[in-house]
Amino acid sequence: MIRSSGLPVPRGSISFSGRQALGAIGALKAHGRETVAQFEQAFATWLGVRHAVAFASGKAALAAWVRVLGLGPGDRLLLPALDAPEVPALIRGLGIGVRVADISPVTYGLDPDRAAEVQDPQVRGVLVPHLYGNPADLDRLSRLASDRGWVLIEDCAQALGARWHGRMVGAQGHPAFFSFGLMKNLNSLQGGMAVTNDDRQAAALRGFAQALPDPSPLAVLRDLGLSLTLWTGTRRLPFAAAWPVLRVVEALDPSLVHRAARLRPSRWEQASLDPVPLMRRMSPIQAGAGIQGLPRVLPEAHRRRAHAETLIRALSSLPGLDLPGALAPADPVWTHLVVRVQDRYRWRRRLLRRGIDTTTGYLKTLHREDPEAGPCPVAEDLEARSLYLPIWPELDARDIDRIIDAMREGTKR
Ligand SMILES: Cc1ncc(COP(=O)(O)O)c(C=O)c1O
Repeated sequence: MIRSSGLPVPRGSISFSGRQALGAIGALKAHGRETVAQFEQAFATWLGVRHAVAFASGKAALAAWVRVLGLGPGDRLLLPALDAPEVPALIRGLGIGVRVADISPVTYGLDPDRAAEVQDPQVRGVLVPHLYGNPADLDRLSRLASDRGWVLIEDCAQALGARWHGRMVGAQGHPAFFSFGLMKNLNSLQGGMAVTNDDRQAAALRGFAQALPDPSPLAVLRDLGLSLTLWTGTRRLPFAAAWPVLRVVEALDPSLVHRAARLRPSRWEQASLDPVPLMRRMSPIQAGAGIQGLPRVLPEAHRRRAHAETLIRALSSLPGLDLPGALAPADPVWTHLVVRVQDRYRWRRRLLRRGIDTTTGYLKTLHREDPEAGPCPVAEDLEARSLYLPIWPELDARDIDRIIDAMREGTKR
């Protein structure tokens, strides 16, 4: 028998199963929208909210919230200075201005002190992502929002399964949305969900969703093919077969892949994103995959969190390494474990030599796009120094020990 612990460790894996593929294909045959309604109901119950309304992506769910909350031209939303680049682009595409404030060096989420410094009568709301699955300071940000008369929208795209004061994020009484993209904790072949306890808001979200077209079945089936391909490619044996190529590329230039990806900004990184093609409701195929994936979320989160906590404990005393921390009311889900190191490409190469694949991530600083924002040193530091360590659920204790040993050895140099 081949022991997987001895093989190279891919940077991540796709959460997808044969049941999900069958669920998607079964819904293709079912022709109706009942599968979507079933997924909405199952998700609302699972999360502990009264209403869940399904969309074809997290971005579509966010756009629905912007419209339902009555935000429009002349209004502005406050965002953290580091976020998924498509979020500010979409907000601008919806005609809303973007203001930013720096992030916390502990949680990497929006810093309430920096947010409080923003005095702008055009700001009508604050968007609070729980980046990397670690809840931002919801207590202080909620107080700030109610003092200023802002609406607070929780962006739970990366934080499905995380809790704040024991209750799931997204079920805290704020307008909230989730993403079920291919790399997320629940993969429904893209897909997103807007959630609320408010009956009137739910009716408005539902009316909005019903007026939208489905995504094209071809696009959803392409995501099914992509999920199966990525799932296969990140299994240990196929990944081990591709390993020599990765080593050669990295030996030539460790930042090559990252820089090549940055040569031309992706569709998501444009200053403004046209919301029209994105505005789609969830298709039954996506819902079929989502229903079958839901029972996997907590067991996988449990394993991922155990790996992250072991790593945080073992690495926290190492010099030259900064780790994220959780606030007392938070129970993070650690979708990603991001550490900050000097010269991350050297680190990446060093870890690759020890059989560990890492990534430098895709989140971007936003403060240069807000002419009124001052410097945001914490976000800049995170963007320049972040390295994502593998913590995906199928890793075992020996893999995690191997990462710890490699990190220890790296800090001794
Ligand atoms: C923090 C955050 N918000 C929003 C989104 C958008 O979600 P989707 O890709 O489902 O549109 C993402 C996607 O990666 C994200 O990471």
